[in-house]
Amino acid sequence: MPTALVVLAAGKGTRMNSDLPKVLHPIAGAPLLVHAMSAAAPLEPEHVVVVAGHGIEQVRAAALAHDETARVVAQSEQLGTAHALAQAAPALKDFDGTVVMLFGDTPFVRPETLETMIAAAEQKDVVFLGFEAADPGRYGRLIMDGDRLARIVEYKDATEAERAITFCNSGVVACRAPLLFDLVSQVGNDNAAGEYYLTEIAAIAGERGLSVTAVSCDEAETLGINSRSELADAEAQFQAAARAAAFENGVTMIAPDTVYFAYDTVIGRDAIIEPNVVFGAGVTIESGAHIRAFSHLEGCHVAQRATVGPYARLRPGAELSEDVHIGNFVEVKNARIDSGAKVNHLTYIGDAYVGEKTNIGAGTITCNYDGVMKHHTHIGANAFIGSNTMLVAPVSIGDGAMTGSGSVITSDVEPDALALSRAPQVEKPGSAAKLLKILKAKKARLQRGS
Ligand code: UD1
Ligand code: CA
Repeated sequence: MPTALVVLAAGKGTRMNSDLPKVLHPIAGAPLLVHAMSAAAPLEPEHVVVVAGHGIEQVRAAALAHDETARVVAQSEQLGTAHALAQAAPALKDFDGTVVMLFGDTPFVRPETLETMIAAAEQKDVVFLGFEAADPGRYGRLIMDGDRLARIVEYKDATEAERAITFCNSGVVACRAPLLFDLVSQVGNDNAAGEYYLTEIAAIAGERGLSVTAVSCDEAETLGINSRSELADAEAQFQAAARAAAFENGVTMIAPDTVYFAYDTVIGRDAIIEPNVVFGAGVTIESGAHIRAFSHLEGCHVAQRATVGPYARLRPGAELSEDVHIGNFVEVKNARIDSGAKVNHLTYIGDAYVGEKTNIGAGTITCNYDGVMKHHTHIGANAFIGSNTMLVAPVSIGDGAMTGSGSVITSDVEPDALALSRAPQVEKPGSAAKLLKILKAKKARLQRGS
């Protein structure tokens, strides 16, 4: 049975107190919305529909950046979850498979849970996702009658007895598309909030003699974000899970609480991650690599046995081959560093290629930007770049070539050549002593005030 995903993301998120739509606030470097969309990705939905309202253009851009086939439909007034879902009906009017609907501000639903719901929706007409709440607070309560979900009552409309129920509604629903949109069209807004509650479809389906049930999941999966402090708690939860997964995968971390993962960080077995390392999006670290303390990595690939840091920065497009050494205060951007090359100290390598086993001296800079355009630097294999070399791109250094320390290299260097480009040294015997004598005499005169 084909599936379609609908994500409700029209709400303002007033409690975030933000210009950014709530669903675009990030956890581990990805918007909440993207976490929700990713949770359903393993179902390979035929259609992805995002219902947006507040900040719709920004939400559209984020949804399409993640999945260019997604459709973003507008809910211009937020009249409730049933009204929001109804806005997806035109986009799915020819779709006869199962719709899975989730909230854009609920980032941790597991794909396995959604698969369980899809399986349940093959047997039952309407399937909600419930959880045992430690503190049920203002969640909707699931009124069960054995396996049958009789109805859902929102907190505001619940009696004291109903509020005592701890089995709560996560908001996730699975149902065949034509039935779902038919049920949703029957929902009214005669309740304490004056909203069109999606939860009403449980009772409406029950009255029609349809089968309605609830699948349950862990409370941690249904965590919804409403405030900055909940966002921070969710980030902490994500990080805790990512650290645990890294340990499972054979990664060593000396101080795991100080290592921050992105939503898509991949780290191989026997890699060592020292304290205070931050991974931005798009990082792959292969097995046996060693990332030393206080390094920041983003959009890069570190091959086996390479070492990075301490205090290194790898920016998007940094590609380190096997056994590369990147040392302290080195920044690499959009550059491939080939096997065994060393860039050990105080260096910027950007828009460049560094060949195998080449050594880059301390303080080297690829001067890639002329104020308007970026240019490429090519450094061959087994080259030796002297300390404090400025490589003014575009420029190419041949295999086995050397540059003298302090050189400003503006034209290409042949293989095996030595390039020197610095003022020749001048030596004046005795001049230092003479100069000091003159300066000391001057200072003495000034102190006497003469
Ligand atoms: C909803 C459920 C409640 C459940 C809780 C779980 C309903 C009526 N209630 O309540 O049973 O326990 O979630 O967190 O469904 N949204 C729109 N358009 C709207 C209204 C909401 O897109 O018109 C989106 C919001 O952006 C949000 C999600 O739907 O992402 C949930 O809406 P919210 O108003 O937070 O529902 P709750 O009151 O929390
Ligand atoms: Ca909510």
